[in-house]
Amino acid sequence: MQFFVDTADTNEIRELAASGLLDGVTTNPSLVAKSGRDFFEVLREISKLVPGPISAEVTAADARGMIEEGQRLARIASNIVVKVPLTWEGLKACRALVNEGIGVNVTLCFSVNQALLAAKAGATYVSPFVGRLDDIGENGMHLIADIKKVYDHYESLNTKILVASIRSADHVREAALIGAHVATIPPAILRELVKHALTDKGLAAFNADWARTGQSILKR
Ligand code: E4P
Repeated sequence: MQFFVDTADTNEIRELAASGLLDGVTTNPSLVAKSGRDFFEVLREISKLVPGPISAEVTAADARGMIEEGQRLARIASNIVVKVPLTWEGLKACRALVNEGIGVNVTLCFSVNQALLAAKAGATYVSPFVGRLDDIGENGMHLIADIKKVYDHYESLNTKILVASIRSADHVREAALIGAHVATIPPAILRELVKHALTDKGLAAFNADWARTGQSILKR
């Protein structure tokens, strides 16, 4: 499974990219607003930090406007993927941008039928929002499992499932068990994935035992 980071904070991205574990980045208008920075400047910086796909969202409501904005965003860097909302207009824009060879991430997906439409529109990625479904008392991960099942039925559907609105490490584990292609993860949760109490305990014991030997691997 690929790991994208869900943020427009370039300091976070720089730090996480240094791990070599980052496959891409997703942004949205709320994350850009939170960064307090110029959208284009941020995208230019991110596209240099991470060679993988960088999702940049359009803000127009009609297909024509989305296509124009998408073309403009795609010119920023070759790894920009244009994010469009899951509306009829968004689907029309998706088809048009994909036909021009631009990668598209169809976002704000909350149902299997929506995911089916995104795939039929040729989307590179579809982003089902698991956390926001959990927030309203539904089970976001059931949606991921259902979309995976439907996509697997049809060889012609090549859209990748990009699990979004992740709220916990458990969401990441469940997405991987289902076989989702990508998880876009907030920085704090990405860092949390490495943690296990037995790792810390085991390492402390190894370090204590090693210190008692008085040896050094490098001083030989
Ligand atoms: C995905 O691309 C979105 O940016 C994101 O995952 C939304 O997450 P939220 O529901 O925590 O805002």
